[in-house]
Parts: sequence; C-alpha cells; structure tokens
Amino acid sequence: MNMFSLSVPASSANIGPGFDSVGMALNRYLTLQVTRQEKWEFAQHSHLLPSFTDYEDHFIYQIAKQTANWHQKSLPACKVSIDSEIPLARGLGSSASAVIAGIELANQLCTLSLSSLDKLQLATEIEGHPDNVAASLVGGLVISVETDNVIDYCQVPDLDIDIVVYIPAVELKTEKSRKALPAYFSRKDATIASGISNLMIASLLKGDYELAGKMMEHDLFHEPYRADLIPHYHDLKQEAKQFGAYGTVISGAGPTMISFVPKGKGGTISKQMKTFLPHYQIEPLDIDHNGLRVEQEII
Ligand code: HSE
Repeated sequence: MNMFSLSVPASSANIGPGFDSVGMALNRYLTLQVTRQEKWEFAQHSHLLPSFTDYEDHFIYQIAKQTANWHQKSLPACKVSIDSEIPLARGLGSSASAVIAGIELANQLCTLSLSSLDKLQLATEIEGHPDNVAASLVGGLVISVETDNVIDYCQVPDLDIDIVVYIPAVELKTEKSRKALPAYFSRKDATIASGISNLMIASLLKGDYELAGKMMEHDLFHEPYRADLIPHYHDLKQEAKQFGAYGTVISGAGPTMISFVPKGKGGTISKQMKTFLPHYQIEPLDIDHNGLRVEQEII
C-alpha cells in the first residue's frame, strides 16, 4: 500500500508595506497523511479545521480535483488524515496552506511532476495573490509578484531575529478585511508607499532591523484602513515597542499581529506581552525554511 505525508507551514503575509507580495513561513503546520484505498475518506484530527459533511465538500479535495482536472487527470481514491496547528481566519495563512496541500495531493496522486513555479502559479490563481502561498510553498521570507500572468519570486536570506505572534480569540474574514481597502491610490501616495516597502526590504537584507521595524510600521497600503478592525491595534504596537520589538504589524489580513524582535528576546517579550493581553494566545514562533515537505513511505 502506498502512503505519503505532506506538511505545509503557516504564513504571515504583508509584513506591513509588502502588501500582497511579502510572505513569511512560520513553524505551525497543516499535515496530511495519505493512503491509497478503495473509497475516498477524509479524517480530521484537530479542532482548528473547518467541519465538512462529505469528502466532495472538503476544501482540500476540491483543490486537488481542480488541479487534476486542469491536467486532464482523475484522482485515485484515498484516505486523507488531516491535522492542523494553524487557526482559521486569523491571518496566519490557513487557506493558503490548504491550497498548497490540495495541489500537492493531486501532484502526488496523479504524478503530475509539477515544478514549484507551476504550483505557485496555480495556487496564486486560486488565492488571488501570491504572498501566503509562496511562503507556504518554498519557506522563509519570500517576495513574489505576478506580472503579465507570470509569477516571479525571491527568498530573502535568513533573518537574525525572533518572531512573536499575538493571536486574539476572534476571527476576521479576509474578504471583510480587504473590503476596507481603497480601490485607488494617488501617484504621490503610491510612490511613498512603495518607497517605504523598498526601504523595508533593503534594510532587512542589510540586517538593519531598527530601520526595517520603522518602515514596517509606516505602511500606507493597508494598515491605516484596517486598524479599526484589529483589536488593540495601536496599544499592542506601543507595548511591544516598549518591550524592545523592532516593529509590529498586522499578520496578513488580521486580526493576528506579529512583531519582529531582537534574536533571543522572543520568549521574554512573549511573556511580557501576555501580562498586557491575557486573553490572547501569544507565542514566539520560528521562521520555517522548508516550506512544503513530502515524505514517501512504502508499507
Ligand atoms: N495580502 C493579503 C491581504 C493576505 O492582506 O489581504 C490575506 O490573504
């Protein structure tokens, strides 16, 4: 019997001014164990996963089927056991990780031999923007953009920082959070906003995390319009700064927020922030550098 497993990391998109193009993979995972069998079966082992009634309604099955159809193949039946550490609708890329899992499920079951770029192209078509899916697929901090229907991406070398995430108990749907954004920017505003984004990336590459943190907090593309939707948006940033964070931003479309903090300080700052936000799940996370992983087992 053939069996394989997939793991896909969570992700944090935007990192302030990198709206829809910067994503960072984080060490919380969606995992699938797949065994060939006569009939389709999905089994879920985490309360963080959305409920479903029939395998055909399962989001991951639908993505796998869509991927197989695009390549004129049909999926062979399997048992898919799913576990997840990624909370839903919190800005940690749960849907992007499910999209990557669905594409890879079809890739493995139908032997499609898709390249990373093929997968990224498909995933972006489904998600609408490449930031979360690129990070979940290839790992690390990734900058990606779609121009003329082609995606290009670049992974930033390892960052010498710790990450702290602040996950509130409430959900915020990406659709609602995107509706808060303006349809247009003036040339002046777009020029300044992209300058801020450019400077953030340049300073991250240089290792000037103070400057990167300053630029993270000066986003003009989305944070000013979403601030009212995010619990404790202003005071959380201020408090984290007082405890030594370089910069604190909305993770993806929110409502989770995320700080870049000095290396070695993630644990302490998490504890300090917990006294300020006792109802939040606050934890230091690591950047995942692997992205999607597939392990084959013959049993
Ligand atoms: N870049 C996206 C946004 C991430 O901020 O809306 C969430 O899907």
